[in-house]
Amino acid sequence: MATAGKLLVVDDERNILVSLSRALELENYEVVTARNVAEARHQLRAAAPDLCLFDVKLPDGDGLTLLETMQDDPDRPPVIVMSGHGTIDDAVRALQLGAVDYLEKPIGQDRLLLTVANTLERSRLRAENAELKAQLPLEDRTIIGRSKVIEALKAQIDRVAVSEGRVLITGDNGTGKELIAHAIHAASRRSAHPFVSLNCAAVPAELIESELFGHEKGAFTGAVSKKIGKFERADGGTLFLDEVGDMPANMQAKLLRVLQTGELERVGGNQTFKVDVRVLAATNKDLPEEIAAGRFREDLYYRLNVVPLRSPPLRDRREDIPLLVERFLADVATRNQRRAPTLTAGALALLASHDYPGNVRELRNLVERIVILAPPHQDVLDEADIRDFVPTRRPDSPVGYEPGKRLSELVADAERAIVVAALRAHNDVVADTARALGVERSNFHKKLKALGLK
Ligand SMILES: Nc1ncnc2c1ncn2[C@@H]1O[C@H](COP(=O)(O)OP(=O)(O)OP(=O)(O)O)[C@@H](O)[C@H]1O
Ligand SMILES: [Mg+2]
Repeated sequence: MATAGKLLVVDDERNILVSLSRALELENYEVVTARNVAEARHQLRAAAPDLCLFDVKLPDGDGLTLLETMQDDPDRPPVIVMSGHGTIDDAVRALQLGAVDYLEKPIGQDRLLLTVANTLERSRLRAENAELKAQLPLEDRTIIGRSKVIEALKAQIDRVAVSEGRVLITGDNGTGKELIAHAIHAASRRSAHPFVSLNCAAVPAELIESELFGHEKGAFTGAVSKKIGKFERADGGTLFLDEVGDMPANMQAKLLRVLQTGELERVGGNQTFKVDVRVLAATNKDLPEEIAAGRFREDLYYRLNVVPLRSPPLRDRREDIPLLVERFLADVATRNQRRAPTLTAGALALLASHDYPGNVRELRNLVERIVILAPPHQDVLDEADIRDFVPTRRPDSPVGYEPGKRLSELVADAERAIVVAALRAHNDVVADTARALGVERSNFHKKLKALGLK
């Protein structure tokens, strides 16, 4: 018969081991025991328990130290600490060191069994969750697009990836700067090493330094233990400084020094060490403008901007919109556990006609809204179904009354603006545009000629 779980009980008092074991075995747990730290370490490896119960005072050491040494093991079993000399201090320390619970001796049977059962249940749930997560496909970070600008960008990424040069990625919000940074790392010889990123705009100014460089225990109030910084964690790999234009001035100076010397020290530390890190940075700010305004150091700019890469706005590559929409439809549908609807050519054209000041992120959100709010059983969505979701675009040229123009000229102006917009939305494919506008093809050709668009 399968047991309810394997437990390791560590206590130097034989009586306690015997009585706890008996109570637990009656509940169908398999129990292994240890009477000191050395035996406990052996059993942790040999028996691979699902849960541990540790006494604090042991003949050859301390249950808390044992707990502390387990901390770095990601697969460590949960530990419940028991103490006969129940001081609050021990309990607090035990919990700080990662114990999941604390039992005071003498331990009542009900309390013991309840605590053990709850702890095992929680750790089972956690393991299940981790497994489910591992089964989910990794976030897809492919750069989608077949437009000339995107093809050129991909070629640039491949070229810079193999070099070790620092890259400064600029571009508007939501154009994919972070995606580009990932792509550079993935295509570089550092790809098997960590990709670590820091969003300089999201971390409070006073914390950026210790985030980047780490700190020693006691370096400042609240520094209760040593912290490894992002530079160190990225060793061998890539450090991505996102929103670097928002880095506070004093940090800019410190970063510059590290980039110049390749050496750094933890906050509150006096040891200098070297790390092997490639730095990529991104910003949506115009750094030369920031430099002129005295908000960004020129010397740092030149250090970061060895290779400039520009992430193009979506309106400069509208032909990629259908591809992006297709991907996002599938993504969003999977995440919401429903079938992805299909968009008609007209619906796609409507999506392609918007200017997207928020770029790919805006398009992604728009697609998400459409999938979530669309009638649940409708598999095909046309223009009319999605019109309410798409922000109305500004006309290319203002259309209205202009003194000195005849009505026929004004109407022709308006008509030209509409036709130009429609053509653009359909990638200049005349047949598609004619169909979308409900005009017979040969008539549409005549119309284009009349409007001077041919
Ligand atoms: N070419 C692309 N192909 C697929 N997805 C893309 C592309 N460009 C951007 N995205 C997606 O759009 C969203 C925004 O991209 P990302 O976060 O990289 O933009 P960003 O330039 O860093 O924006 P911000 O300046 O606002 O931080 C992400 O969900 C990203 O996956
Ligand atoms: Mg970003």
